[in-house]
Amino acid sequence: MVGITLAEVGITLEARDGEAVTDTLLRAGYMMRMACRRGGCGLCRVHVDEGSTVYRATVAESVLPTSEREEGIVLACRAVPTCDVSITVPVASKLRCVTPLITPYALRKQPQPGGRDVSTKEVASG
Ligand code: FES
Repeated sequence: MVGITLAEVGITLEARDGEAVTDTLLRAGYMMRMACRRGGCGLCRVHVDEGSTVYRATVAESVLPTSEREEGIVLACRAVPTCDVSITVPVASKLRCVTPLITPYALRKQPQPGGRDVSTKEVASG
């Protein structure tokens, strides 16, 4: 499993194998601006700050031009992380937690000496 760090929130979610970024966000109780969820509208653009992603299906040049791809922009509904990634969601996409009670279940756990796993949120807050 790979981690998806949300730069503006400061948490790392654990993505399931083959899971697109928006699927991980939704499973963690987060929502952002999106519509088609199949690579056709381009509303789910995010910037990959670190790491890399692949597309399991073709994304049309008319939806995401090469110039944007070269800047690190991906379509979150189609982009599947291949390693740990850090992403920035544009402010206009209104990333927000809509179901906070399920978020802890999707946080990446970090193994601790003594066997107790600690979520990234606990690590971040000390
Ligand atoms: S939601 Fe339409 S391209 Fe991602």
